[in-house]
Amino acid sequence: MTLILNPNSWLQMASIIFLDIPAGSGYSYADTQEGWISSDTVLAAQANDFLKKFLIDHPKFLKNPLYVAGISYIGIAIPKITLEIYEGNERGDHPPMNIQGYILMSPLTNKFNDFNSRLEYAHRMALISDDIYKSAIENCHGNYVNVDTLNTLCANSLQRYEQCTCRITLDYILEPFCDENDPLSDCQDAFTKVVEIWANTEVVQQALNVRQGKIGKWELLNDTLHYKQGKNDTECYAYDIFSSFPYHKKLSSKNCRALILSGDHDMTFPYVGIEQWITSLDIEIEIPWHPFYVDGQVGGYQMKYAQNDYSLTFTTVKGAGHLVPYYKPKETIVATKTWLSSPTYSSDS
Ligand SMILES: *[C@@H]1O[C@H](CO)[C@@H](O)[C@H](O)[C@H]1NC(C)=O
Ligand SMILES: *[C@@H]1O[C@H](CO)[C@@H](O)[C@H](O)[C@H]1NC(C)=O
Repeated sequence: MTLILNPNSWLQMASIIFLDIPAGSGYSYADTQEGWISSDTVLAAQANDFLKKFLIDHPKFLKNPLYVAGISYIGIAIPKITLEIYEGNERGDHPPMNIQGYILMSPLTNKFNDFNSRLEYAHRMALISDDIYKSAIENCHGNYVNVDTLNTLCANSLQRYEQCTCRITLDYILEPFCDENDPLSDCQDAFTKVVEIWANTEVVQQALNVRQGKIGKWELLNDTLHYKQGKNDTECYAYDIFSSFPYHKKLSSKNCRALILSGDHDMTFPYVGIEQWITSLDIEIEIPWHPFYVDGQVGGYQMKYAQNDYSLTFTTVKGAGHLVPYYKPKETIVATKTWLSSPTYSSDS
């Protein structure tokens, strides 16, 4: 295996702390039985404690503008983590953190809406016909997730939707479908394989100061912790934030900036559902939907909302799937870099 430098590394625009949280993900572990117990809420508090301790130990970073960022499921907790930092500063907690805002990629925001929006997305992307879409709307009354089994008309509409989409790769709808139940298929892509080899290599772990003997194998995804639609709490983890919308709402009255990125070929948490909660924040549009360009080509689309000292930029990345920077590294870094270096406040402040 040979390593090459990533020309689109995020380290060119910021110092980054990658936090494996909760215990059980990445290289993180617990030394006590209670230490393994966590939840969306506990995790938010732990992230905040971690940041405080880190900044006390490394005071040279205290003045740096601080952004909290995350992708996918953790979108449920990032707004809470960010809000707690603002509230800690307001209380006079030590150390004061120079919090400026948050960055979310393909975030989960609501454990009903983001799954429910897949049907509308399937329609917009021509995976289902107008006819199937209309019959689902008519028969299911906007609920395509927790369906009343007695409603046979709805069940029939959803069966047609299911037939059209069950072999679509949700993370990136253009990718070939890999059937996990088929013993002959090899579902691990090259990236996953390489990353697992790399992260389990002893010299790599030594370079990263990973304590030896504390975790077994490093895994890209911990199935015990990993959330799936409708999954119940486990012995170790409670999925206790249903929606992060109230935290976004509270942040919208702070001196805060948000960047929300979504790949327009992502059906896991489609941009359709993201658009819905952003609209519900009820913040004025400062800059309407417009394309952004990378090397003279459309990289995706953007929209900016602003109110007092809060602003939110919603960016779709054209042709990207769920792991936005993995599919479109250059477009993603251009959009993020531009946002990071753009004026801090909205036009009216
Ligand atoms: C996955 O998380 C659980 C705790 O929920 C932990 O016991 C287990 O060791 C983790 N697995 C890996 C491979 O880290
Ligand atoms: C979650 O728990 C409920 C009640 O115990 C059970 O009926 C349901 O089947 C469980 N769901 C899953 C996905 O395991």
